[in-house]
Amino acid sequence: AATASGCGLLPGTPLPKLLTSAAPLPMPFTTDLPLPSVARPTRTDSGADYYDLVARTADVEILPGLRTRILGYGGTFPGPTIQARSGRRTVVRLDNGLDVPTVMHLHGGHTPPEHDGYPTDLIQPRAKRDYDFPLSQRAATLWYHDHRMDYTGPQVWQGLAGFFLVRDAEEEALPLPSGERDVPLLICDRAFSADGSMPYPGRPNGPGAAGEFMGGVLGDVILVNGAPWPQLRVERARYRFRLLNGSNARTYELALAPGRPITQIGSDGGLLAAPVRLEKVRLAPGERADVVVDFSAYPVGGQVELRNLLGEGPQAQVMRFVVDRAAKDDSAVPATLSRVEVLDPAAAKATRDFQFSSGSTHHGDGWVINGEAYKPGRFVARPKLGDVEVWRFTSDVAHPVHLHLAHFQVVSIDGERPAGPPMWKDTVELRDAQTVEIVTRFTGYRGKYVMHCHNLEHEDMAMMADFEVI
Ligand code: C2O
Ligand code: CU
Repeated sequence: AATASGCGLLPGTPLPKLLTSAAPLPMPFTTDLPLPSVARPTRTDSGADYYDLVARTADVEILPGLRTRILGYGGTFPGPTIQARSGRRTVVRLDNGLDVPTVMHLHGGHTPPEHDGYPTDLIQPRAKRDYDFPLSQRAATLWYHDHRMDYTGPQVWQGLAGFFLVRDAEEEALPLPSGERDVPLLICDRAFSADGSMPYPGRPNGPGAAGEFMGGVLGDVILVNGAPWPQLRVERARYRFRLLNGSNARTYELALAPGRPITQIGSDGGLLAAPVRLEKVRLAPGERADVVVDFSAYPVGGQVELRNLLGEGPQAQVMRFVVDRAAKDDSAVPATLSRVEVLDPAAAKATRDFQFSSGSTHHGDGWVINGEAYKPGRFVARPKLGDVEVWRFTSDVAHPVHLHLAHFQVVSIDGERPAGPPMWKDTVELRDAQTVEIVTRFTGYRGKYVMHCHNLEHEDMAMMADFEVI
């Protein structure tokens, strides 16, 4: 197994490990990019939109000519996209048609605790429950996914993830690309057996990924919206792409080839204060970036690849755009996108330290926060409603740290202010042996929430903790 070495890493700390497909894989860019279907509310009234969603198994074609058994919301992977509005209540009734328990979490949602998908709030097979989202939050690219304690890795791997887009008037007043030129892209890696199945290297009936995979599971096939290395025909115009890293453990650095900068306009928590031009966009598991790509820089007939600078061989390829035809384009990226309040770390009522490292757990070797394996109901922090706090995270190997409820801003990375305009995040990548300070304000709801590593194998191997807003 791969282990960490050098530069301050503990010897023997397991790293993510690549699974190799036995199935015949397609040539890249031979499938069309699928767009997830858009969920239609079953009913709406003056106060809310109501959706009915079934989590069930389905056999779908991911690799040409092969059937893959998935667990999918609505029987699809990704699940249907839920289109919601800021401030408008959205109620999702999830019917568990699987033969295993499930929990759903709206990632990035500002959600009351009883609807937040706490890891032991299980929906048993054949049971259902309503998730009631007030959505008193700004426009942003959110996603929903399984969050069952100890089993999130396998259940997301098998397909339980979808987009949840929140829109608002502020964003709609901007001339950003919209409609068919606003495209969600869920990027994730998987591996396939010869028969097309996507086995997860876990314990057969137990939690987490076993043995050499406890560092994380990587697949050798890169899927975008559930299709291997797809292709999208685009007009010679600006497009907005909502990039989501839905992988269990793979981090990407996305760049265009031939190279041109990518304009980032949004982050986990919605629009940035101002656009930023980047050579590459780095996304750890769970993170999102809304970007604008201007295809008018390319000729009709031009081909542009989206590549992963952190991958090798086939894992360096993600998808391809083919500039198909000329088109009229009224869109623009304004120099000011939004007013982003900057939280002042000096206003913090408390500063807390959290150390993310490998350690021993109730599952054996695993991952711990401040030396402790996850135990539901054991609180590592009790912030007061309304308070600003600084949380300081340190790592052994890389850990994408995600907070439920509280969006935050990064104050420093190894003591340095991060580059770029102010932005809201809900997931931040700690790289190897790094210290990251964030500042947040706990607003909206009192109650019990989790913080965890979004490397889903680490999460399942106990790298999670409860905090309670009091
Ligand atoms: Cu996207 Cu608690 O997770
Ligand atoms: Cu981790």
